[in-house]
Amino acid sequence: MKEVTCVWQTNAELGEGPLWVAAENCIYWVDIRKNQVHQLNLGSDARQTWTFSVAITSLASRQSGGFVGTTPDGFVVVNLETQSVEPLVLPEAHLPGNRFNDGKVDGNGRFWSGSLHRGETDPTGTLYRLDPDLTLHTMDTGYIITNGPAFSVDGKTMYHNDSVKGMVYAFDLQSDGSLSGKRPFQKLTFAINGAPDGMTVDSENCLWLAHYGGARLTRFAPTGEILAEVPLPVPNVTSCTFGGPKLDTLYITTASQNMSAAELEKYPLSGSLFTYQPGVKGLPTPQFAG
Ligand code: BGC
Ligand code: CA
Repeated sequence: MKEVTCVWQTNAELGEGPLWVAAENCIYWVDIRKNQVHQLNLGSDARQTWTFSVAITSLASRQSGGFVGTTPDGFVVVNLETQSVEPLVLPEAHLPGNRFNDGKVDGNGRFWSGSLHRGETDPTGTLYRLDPDLTLHTMDTGYIITNGPAFSVDGKTMYHNDSVKGMVYAFDLQSDGSLSGKRPFQKLTFAINGAPDGMTVDSENCLWLAHYGGARLTRFAPTGEILAEVPLPVPNVTSCTFGGPKLDTLYITTASQNMSAAELEKYPLSGSLFTYQPGVKGLPTPQFAG
């Protein structure tokens, strides 16, 4: 079934960070602006929502059980039962003009996440790497909005965005976690393409990119060639990940923030969770090894 389907009309303000947890047969995602974590059980179709006193901006499962994630200040343990967080490392607690945004675990169990400038004008955002021994490493600076870390099949290329600058960068990622060779992979013009947001790599090593304000996903070959474009019925497409027992379904988050009443009437599914089966599978989701 090759069509985009709305599976949960959540009316999220800023749906983000879809996460597949195979052991639970569940998709999780967050609503950054409503301080919420949502869970969809693919077996029973049960839906659950937890509300925190702080925003959970990204979520990852942990090898030792439970979840880690990010709040506006940095890296935390996320406890869904008690809707509470426990700080791990908070590198931006002193920067109220910034907040953490997207985050992803690499094939070596390291958790990558970055920050953004809340005003979306200044390059105060930083990309960090949290290792399993809980040491923090500053990996890149100068971002207005960090977004969508994603990793190639062999783990040797990392993709990472500055949404406001319209840039998708590629880096060489060494096995010790260091980065080199930062280069532009795509440059998007907002008026035509929207802003580059969340991303994931499929089992054929191609990159799926969410277009915030661009109402679609694009599949890029590692060469940068466009292989497919998938339109969505809403403008603000924020992220995507592969899930389902066969890893054959893209779960796609969207946002309704900053839309006028007229736009919301035109795009009533804004903020919903969508699925799409592209005919290619994803990769298993790595867990944080700390
Ligand atoms: C951020 C939003 C931002 C959007 C588009 C998202 O990842 O969380 O704050 O508006 O990207 O750049
Ligand atoms: Ca994002």
